[in-house]
Amino acid sequence: MKSLRFFTLGAAALCMAVSTLAFSSLAQAADFSSHKVAVVYFSLLHNRVHGNPDAQEGKSVGNTETIARLIAENTGGELFALEVVNPYPEDYDATVDMARDEQNAKARPALKSLPDVSDCDVVFLGYPNWWGTYPMAVATYLDSGALKGKTVIPFCTHEGSRLGRSQGDVEAALPDSTVLDGYECRGRNVTDEGTPAEVKEFLNGLSLKALRSVHKRIARVGAPYPLLA
Ligand SMILES: Cc1cc2nc3c(=O)[nH]c(=O)nc-3n(C[C@H](O)[C@H](O)[C@H](O)COP(=O)(O)O)c2cc1C
Repeated sequence: MKSLRFFTLGAAALCMAVSTLAFSSLAQAADFSSHKVAVVYFSLLHNRVHGNPDAQEGKSVGNTETIARLIAENTGGELFALEVVNPYPEDYDATVDMARDEQNAKARPALKSLPDVSDCDVVFLGYPNWWGTYPMAVATYLDSGALKGKTVIPFCTHEGSRLGRSQGDVEAALPDSTVLDGYECRGRNVTDEGTPAEVKEFLNGLSLKALRSVHKRIARVGAPYPLLA
């Protein structure tokens, strides 16, 4: 009888601890301080012939890079830009055609370098939506194995197609990584006043995912709920 009381008290204490953990995780902003974070992204501006800002409708920072910088600011992550060896043409329509041809051919455009994220455990992976998924230069990076075993969080800018097929494509390309649900933002909205807060909200939501995985682990080992039943 006495041992049953101890058992019940122990279960109650464990339950309170879990509830406290749940509450604090819900209330707190995502904490990346215990993680080594990288933000790897592809943006057309870095990958055009000449790369002349004056030729980019006055922009000096690409849409995806704008979001990449916000994520880096909020997570302390290191930024890495993916750059192709052979840049895309200055002409936009020619770039669109070339991107479609690369996708049809399942091309893997050569990159100037493969960002080394071996000391990072969390990698945000950014790209523009090109014909429904990520540019093939991103596929080159995914195929390199650099993200094996990492927690990978996609983010995508677009002009209406949102993440398209890219979330599933990243998951399929990284079977040995943990791929979380990605963030998307319309390209024309990346510099809106509300975008930094939206990005922060997305990042804070990632701590809820960690909490859910704690619950899943507890459910798997069978405590504390069966003890209370
Ligand atoms: C080759 C190419 C293909 C694109 N295909 C799509 C598409 O399928 N769906 C979409 O919503 N936007 C598409 N876009 C628009 C880009 O995704 C959007 O402008 C993005 O924000 C550009 O990001 P960046 O400045 O970082 O390159 C395409 C743009 C290019 C250049």
